[in-house]
Parts: sequence; structure tokens; C-alpha cells
Amino acid sequence: MLSRVAKRAFSSTVANPYKVTVLGAGGGIGQPLSLLLKLNHKVTDLRLYDLKGAKGVATDLSHIPTNSVVKGFTPEEPDGLSNALKDTDMVLIPAGVPRKPGMTRDDLFAINASIVRDLAAAAAESAPNAAILVISNPVNSTVPIVAQVLKSKGVYNPKKLFGVTTLDSIRAARFISEVEHTDPTQERVNVIGGHSGITIIPLISQTNHKLMSDDKRQELIHRIQFGGDEVVKAKNGAGSATLSMAHAGAKFANAVLSGFKGERDIIEPSFVDSPLFKSEGIEFFASPVTLGPDGIEKIHPIGEISSEEEEMLQKCKETLKKNIEKGVNFVASK
Ligand code: NAD
Ligand code: LMR
Repeated sequence: MLSRVAKRAFSSTVANPYKVTVLGAGGGIGQPLSLLLKLNHKVTDLRLYDLKGAKGVATDLSHIPTNSVVKGFTPEEPDGLSNALKDTDMVLIPAGVPRKPGMTRDDLFAINASIVRDLAAAAAESAPNAAILVISNPVNSTVPIVAQVLKSKGVYNPKKLFGVTTLDSIRAARFISEVEHTDPTQERVNVIGGHSGITIIPLISQTNHKLMSDDKRQELIHRIQFGGDEVVKAKNGAGSATLSMAHAGAKFANAVLSGFKGERDIIEPSFVDSPLFKSEGIEFFASPVTLGPDGIEKIHPIGEISSEEEEMLQKCKETLKKNIEKGVNFVASK
């Protein structure tokens, strides 16, 4: 017999039955991300797909006594990918290759663009209403790829397509706390633009640390922009950030599900189809967004920024425009 408290707790979890699919679940990010999703009580149906390893990861996670059913899917079984996606509420895509030292994220385009395009096409067929969270790099180009594919299938909903840039904000919070000797859990840094090098713009002028010396601030900005390289170098050929990324991906996924649930004031940064610089031909831009039952409820403006940040923004826009066009042209040319 369940106690009254236990019964109430159980019914509150099953009241929000979200189906979530991870494409690339056997990989460096996919595995810990799937673990964190298995621990999320908003998820009741967790589907893991990968070219290899998804069944093993799913069986392993299925022994954890949380309120979700986990199932692994492979391309070898009939309709493996479409069954993984069928009527799911959210699709997370960390499928694709990671960087090795000396590579830029853009160098991954040659392999990852077609992986993401094909997975987006499958999602369009089997889960046309799902939120799609793109992790695979280069995010500045893979998100426009997904948008083009969904448009070509007539199911594009800009409110439900997200490039996951959460890792930039969590790095910014951590790194600023290290130089300012503060509590990292209390730091919030608004990071806008895109997800690669100079397109990543941490708005230090909007924090409580605007009086930092120029040298210290410039070093901090550089570290946030190139934090990914720090991990790639330390892993020395074995890939890029996976564990911090899994945390970032699970945090963002939880925010999207909280929005679906109708929780209020859920605000996270994300690289989205944005009106902010559309007049300059920049279709996608990362800035804080409010999440609601239908996905994006509001895209927040960037607010007041310093002249240094204004200069960074100009450079960011030049690169971002090219990255976005590259993704759009890739789909158009096929
Ligand atoms: P990984 O190589 O460890 O894992 C990738 C997984 O994708 C593998 O298991 C592989 O089998 C799978 N895969 C490849 N093609 C597939 C397909 N067509 N269908 C299903 N699965 C497929 O790589 P990783 O370290 O997990 O990184 C994955 C991607 O995430 C990379 O592109 C990396 O650059 C990117 N990344 C993004 C961020 C971010 O902030 N957005 C952070 C870190 C890494
Ligand atoms: C990151 O920021 O860590 C990821 O985009 C992976 C990478 O290639 O740096």
C-alpha cells in the first residue's frame, strides 16, 4: 500500500507525461545526458537512438527507479528511428562528430551537416510537433539546417527550434566566479550571439562585475569564448566537452519542459529564429527567451551594452551571417 504522501508524489509526476527522444544517445554527451533525463521527473517516456550502443545505455538506465520507461532503438531494426521519434514531445540531437585539437567547430560541418539534416527529416515525419534541441556542432549552421528541412516538409515552427547554447552561460557563471571569488551558483551572465569563438558574447557590463579591470575582463571574455578549446586540448584527441554539456543540455531540456507544463518565468538563453537582427539578414541569434506551453513565448532584446560589447556584436554578426547562410545553402543545394 502506498502512503498518502507517496501517492500524491506519484500522481504529480505522472500528471506531466513527457516523451523525450535523444538522437546520438550512445555518445560522449548522449550517455550522461540520457542519465540526467532519466532522473528528470517530468520525463515519463525516454527513447534513446544511436547508430551504436543505444540499447545497452537504455537497459542500463532502465534499472533506475524513476518514473520513466526507457527504450533503446537502432537503425538495424525496422522503423528504429521512426519508432524512437513517434509522437515525442522533445528531440535532443547530440549526434555527430566532436572536434580534435586544431579543429574549429566549422570543420565539423562536412560530416555533421548531413547527419543533422537526415535526423531532422525523420523528426519532421514522425514528430512534427516536437521541440527540437540541437546540440551537434557547428550550432550556428546546424540550427538553420534543421529549420530549412522542417520548412521543406511544411512543419516548421520557429517557437520550437532551439540551438543549445546553455554551456556558454554556465561557463560564464563559473569563470566569472573564479576571478571575482564569488559563489558560482549565484552568478548569471547573459551570453548572446552564437556558439563559436567570437560569436559568443558574454555581456559582462550587465553583471555586478562591471568595474573589473580591462585586462581581467578581456581575459575572462576570451576564456568564455574559447572555453570549448580548453576541453578539446585537455582531452587531447578524445573529443570535446561531454559532461558539462550533458548538464547544460539537461538544464535546457528541463526549462523547455517546465515551459510546456505552464510554469512561469522560465528564461534561458538559446540560439533561435529571432527578430532581433533579421533586418540585417541575420535569421538566428542567441539571446534569453521565455519558455511557455507552446515553446518560445518571448525573445528578449539584448538590453543596454557597452561600446566594447557593441564592437564584439558587429564582428559576431559578420561571422554569424556566413555560418547561417552556409547551413541554408547546404539544404538548398541537395
Ligand atoms: P561522440 O562522438 O562521443 O558521440 C556522438 C554520437 O553520435 C555517437 O555515439 C555516434 O554513433 C552518434 N551518431 C553519429 N551519427 C549518427 C546518426 N546519423 N544517427 C544517430 N546517431 C549518430 O560525440 P560527442 O562528444 O557526444 O559530441 C556530439 C556533438 O555535440 C559534436 O558535434 C560536438 O561538437 C557537439 N557539442 C556541442 C556542444 C554545444 O554546446 N552545443 C557542446 C559539446 C559538444
Ligand atoms: C563546446 O563549447 O565545448 C562545444 O561546442 C564543443 C567544442 O567543439 O568546443
